[in-house]
Amino acid sequence: MKLSRILSNENGVSRKQANRTIASGMVLVDGRCCTDAAAEVSRFQRVTANGQVLQQGIPARYLMLNKPAGYLSATSDTVHPTVLDLLPPELRERLHIAGRLDRATTGLLILTNDGTWSRRLTEPRLKIPKVYRVTTAYPLGPDTAERFARGIWFAYEQLTTSPATLEQLAPCEARLTIFEGRYHQVKRMFHAVGNRVTGLHRERVGDIVLPDDVPPGTYRHLSDSELRSVPQSRASDSTMP
Ligand code: URA
Repeated sequence: MKLSRILSNENGVSRKQANRTIASGMVLVDGRCCTDAAAEVSRFQRVTANGQVLQQGIPARYLMLNKPAGYLSATSDTVHPTVLDLLPPELRERLHIAGRLDRATTGLLILTNDGTWSRRLTEPRLKIPKVYRVTTAYPLGPDTAERFARGIWFAYEQLTTSPATLEQLAPCEARLTIFEGRYHQVKRMFHAVGNRVTGLHRERVGDIVLPDDVPPGTYRHLSDSELRSVPQSRASDSTMP
């Protein structure tokens, strides 16, 4: 929301009066003077005018969770436990999942209450790599890597997947890097080449790597550098907490 709107909404003053107050240098955003009435301010930022709090700012949350098998990537479900059940209640409010995993899939899941940030993380045009360790039912075919690199035709969506990188680790094991996050994408890619995924674990999203000290079923807050590794657009820069 624009800074001038926060002033006029909260104080019931006219936009003109709000602009004047902002121009006079009496308005602080996160403790810093802001004289730009058009500055974009997120709901995570604290705004004061003349020492009076106009917007408290809610805490922004960015978490990584090591998802165990059996948990749904959903915020509620009547049948299965969800990944939110693995978090303390005080952290759960308004969280959403940035890039879901299937129930049987394990590994890196990112949760946040900041939609601007998560949209960038999952924005297909940015082609942020997602790295999976894959176990297959049958040995990898000699042409699988090449076919994934060329792209796999998904008839339902009428599209070819972006070029993906496959590194074979063992006859039935590989590391696969994809650059989009389509429904059941990895399973469908292997199915298309006559194989079947029997184990799937996400190791990395962009520069955010699941570390060894976050065991299955546990979480931690993202570090500043992990947070800032997700490219932000110019407009949303000013909304970063
Ligand atoms: N692709 C899949 O098929 N499943 C996942 O959970 C993630 C990617």
